[in-house]
Amino acid sequence: MKLFPTYIRYDVEFEKGEGVWLTDRSGRRWLDFASGIGVTGLGHNHPRVRAALIRQAGQLWHLSNLFPHRLQERVAEALCRVSGMGAVFFCNSGAEANEAAIKLARRWAREAKVIAEPQILTFEGSFHGRTLATLTATGQEKVKRGFDPLPGGFRILPPENMDAVREATGAATAAVLLELVRGEGGVKPVDPGFVRELADWCREKRLLLMVDEVQTGIGRTGAWFAFQRYGITPDVITTAKGLGNGFPVGAMLAREELKPHLGPGSHGTTFGGNLLAMAAAGAVLEELEVSGLIGEVEAKSRLLRDGLRQVLSPYAEVIDVRGLGLMIGVELTVPVQPFIRELLHAGLVTLPAGETVLRLLPPLVVGETEIRQAVRIIGQVAEKRFGGKMEGLSEIREVVAK
Ligand SMILES: Cc1ncc(COP(=O)(O)O)c(C=O)c1O
Repeated sequence: MKLFPTYIRYDVEFEKGEGVWLTDRSGRRWLDFASGIGVTGLGHNHPRVRAALIRQAGQLWHLSNLFPHRLQERVAEALCRVSGMGAVFFCNSGAEANEAAIKLARRWAREAKVIAEPQILTFEGSFHGRTLATLTATGQEKVKRGFDPLPGGFRILPPENMDAVREATGAATAAVLLELVRGEGGVKPVDPGFVRELADWCREKRLLLMVDEVQTGIGRTGAWFAFQRYGITPDVITTAKGLGNGFPVGAMLAREELKPHLGPGSHGTTFGGNLLAMAAAGAVLEELEVSGLIGEVEAKSRLLRDGLRQVLSPYAEVIDVRGLGLMIGVELTVPVQPFIRELLHAGLVTLPAGETVLRLLPPLVVGETEIRQAVRIIGQVAEKRFGGKMEGLSEIREVVAK
C-alpha cells in the first residue's frame, strides 16, 4: 500500500456505476445514497454528461487560462443565470473555491474599505476545506490539530448567535463565511431567522455575506442553491461537489460589482476552467435546467424523511431526523460507523457526518422505489442493531427552512 493513510477505507471495491447503483467485480449491486459525498447528483454514468465529456475529449482537453474559450463563458453564464451572480472564477475543488472567496474578501476589504488586516467571521461546527486558510476558517478543532502555525484573519463564533456576531463585528471585519446546512458538521440546517438577521446585519455594516454552497449547491437542497431557499442574496457563493457530477471542478461566484477586485494576476490556477471540467459542468447545468429534477427534490426528501421516521421511531438510539432537500441527517446517541458498515454489508452506501450522525446524500435522480428500498434496509439494520423495540421517540424533529 503506497497511499498515505489519510482515509480509513471500507472493505468494498466498486467497479461500475449506473444511476443510483454501484456494482462490484462479482456483480453484486449496492444502492448509492452517498453520491461520492454529494458529488454525483445526476447518478453514475449519466448519458448527457458522458456524451459531453467524450465529445470534448476528442477535441481539446486543456488550454490554460491564457486563451479564451466559449465553453468556459457558456458555463459561467449558466451559473450566473441560475444563481443571480455576476462573475465566476473556476477552480478544481471546494477548498479552492473558498480560498478564492477569502482572497476576494481580503482584496475588497483593502480596496473598498481600506482595512489593513481584514478579518472574516466564521462559525463553530462549520467545514470549509483542508487547505491552510480553509481549515483555519473551519469551526472544528480536529481538522487543525498539528498544522500550526495557522494563518490569521479569521474569528470563529458560536453558531446561530446574532449577539456574538454583533459583538465580534469591528472596524477590521470584512466578511462572514457560512454554510446554510452544516454538512460535515452533522447535517444541521441553520435557523432561517438567524440567516435573515445575519444578511441584514451584513448589509447594514457593509460586510460581504459569503455562503459556502460546496455541498448544498447545484440542486442538492431543492433549489439551485440553498441561499434561494433561505430567501437571502449573498455577495459571494462557492460551489463544487455536484457541479461536475464527478469531474473535479469548483467555482467561486460573486456579485458583478466585486469583479474588479480580482484583476489580472491577482489569482489563478493552472487547471481551473479545464475544458473537460467545463464540458461536464455544462452538461450538468443543462440537464438540471431541462429535466425539472430540482423541482422533484422536496417530494423525494419528504418520502425519505417520512420513511425514516416510520422505521426508526421505535429506537431510543435515534434522536433526530433532519435536513434540507436530499441532504438528510439521522442523529444517533451511539457512534455511527458500525451502523454505516452494517448498512454497507446490507447493500446501502451511506456516510457519516461527525461521530454520531448518519448522512444520506442520494443522487437527485433517485426514484421512489429506491427510496423505499433504502428505508427498508435502514429499518432492518436498525432493528438488528438496536433491536428489542425500545420505548418510542416522542418526537423526531424536522427542519425545513422557508
Ligand atoms: C461545505 C464544504 N465546504 C468545503 C468543502 C471542501 O471541498 P473539497 O473537499 O472539494 O476541497 C467541503 C467538503 O466536504 C464542504 O462540505
